[in-house]
Amino acid sequence: MASDFVASELDAQFYLPADEFFPAQRPTALTYDDVTLATLYSEVLPRETQLDTRLAERLTLHIPILSADMDTVTESRMAIAMALNGGLGFIHYNMSERQQLAEVSRVKKHVHGLIQDPVKVTPEQFVGDVLRMIEEKRYAFGTFPVVDNSGRLVGLLSSHVVKPRYAHQPVAKVLTPRAQVHTVQEQELGNDPIARADRFFTEHPGIHKLLVVDAEDRLRGLFTMSDVERITQERQAQFRPARDRRFRLICGAAVSATRNAFGEVDRDRLIKHVGALVDCGLDIVAVSTAHGHSRGVGEAVRMIRAAFPELPILAGNVTSAAGVEFLADCGADAIKVGQGPGSICTTRLVAGVGIPQLTALYVCSRAARAKGVHLVADGGITRSGDIVKALTLADAVMCGSLFAGCTEAPGEVLEIDGKYYKQYRGMGSLAAMKAGAAARYGHARNQSSKVAAEGIEALKEATGSVDAVLTQLIGGIQSGMGYLGARTLAELRERARFARVTSAGRREAAPHDVVELKTGN
Ligand code: XMP
Repeated sequence: MASDFVASELDAQFYLPADEFFPAQRPTALTYDDVTLATLYSEVLPRETQLDTRLAERLTLHIPILSADMDTVTESRMAIAMALNGGLGFIHYNMSERQQLAEVSRVKKHVHGLIQDPVKVTPEQFVGDVLRMIEEKRYAFGTFPVVDNSGRLVGLLSSHVVKPRYAHQPVAKVLTPRAQVHTVQEQELGNDPIARADRFFTEHPGIHKLLVVDAEDRLRGLFTMSDVERITQERQAQFRPARDRRFRLICGAAVSATRNAFGEVDRDRLIKHVGALVDCGLDIVAVSTAHGHSRGVGEAVRMIRAAFPELPILAGNVTSAAGVEFLADCGADAIKVGQGPGSICTTRLVAGVGIPQLTALYVCSRAARAKGVHLVADGGITRSGDIVKALTLADAVMCGSLFAGCTEAPGEVLEIDGKYYKQYRGMGSLAAMKAGAAARYGHARNQSSKVAAEGIEALKEATGSVDAVLTQLIGGIQSGMGYLGARTLAELRERARFARVTSAGRREAAPHDVVELKTGN
């Protein structure tokens, strides 16, 4: 138990808890590489650790990792991968509001037990229309229920006939007729619909779809065998997907404090858009800007809080206790900390402001604790060790660079001299601001060519799937917790003891005096 541990007097003099360590460094501000954590007596094996964390009263994640709301990091594919691993992705806002709604819907409709609003086709459509729809919407499935104008089930269009060779055939002619389609009545589902569907698939070998209808034979949903199998397996997995109360994957989205022609936050537009996101099932909105301790951001947070009392709000970015208190008072549930630590950020160089991340986190964490809000460490994370250090002060980390090279990040893979890369750019880079992100940096969109960029455009080496990257990161966090004898993140925060590192210590910490054969973590 965390409270039982007795450190020796000597240890206590050299390895200090946060409340002694950070004030002792004043006024020097430190970042991840400036400190290291002391090991402690442990009875905890890494695999026994629990990584659940909370961003709001009713929003729990199973791993404390978020993907950044950046246009080269998080769209629906990334958000789905993050939530499937127990984390959370924030869909960026460098796209039209309509597109952002579609991206959030895609996450919310992804693989859950009962797909409540399956994509349908009508008997009058042609197979060619269906093929075009699949391509346009990037659907990864090809079987569709067929319904008439009143929503009644007419049949099932099987993927076996959704082929270019049948493009000129009407759906009515190639569908599997209603009488041969397996259905279950909505009221027969009981309180464990997954178990009911699982039983159905066992009893009907070769059938992979089960449609749900109401008493009037109107389509109410769809089970697929692969979803049901995955969900049944997930129930045993260590890091379960992060889901909402309706068993849908959770999803976040970022909005900016857009101003109207009079320079005021455009309340009507903001509230209308956030309302539409909530209707899609959004779990948390991020009011994401470079300077969160500012009037516009405060107003935007207040407006959203007043209109949607239940919606979790993440707001930022700040690096001061006053900033945390301000956003907490405006109604934010979680506050994002970080000004200039990001790998593509130049805010500190361009504007000369920002605080090295660990000191900023310490200061903000004490204000967050007093206000009862949660904290997200945003930017500057380069490896799992940084995450462990961040989690001694914050509830979760937000990463851009670590995920930008993943298959699930937006953008194409580029080949340069036999190596594979993906584009990664700051949201304050000229290119991103032109594409819409200017409001985040307090500029109007059409001004962006005249303003100073606070981010760069870069490349990240292609790193494979999010699953593989997260496996490494989670392994590192668990290992750190094992060294500190921390079973939960709360215990990690309580037990952390810090020591200062010099440049010689940093050199010692990395591989040295060897010829490295393979790049490690
Ligand atoms: P990492 O280090 O994970 O950082 O790549 C991602 C975070 O960086 C922030 N961000 C920016 N900061 N100029 C900045 O000063 C920029 O152009 C920029 N773009 C993103 C953001 O907080 C993100 O989560």
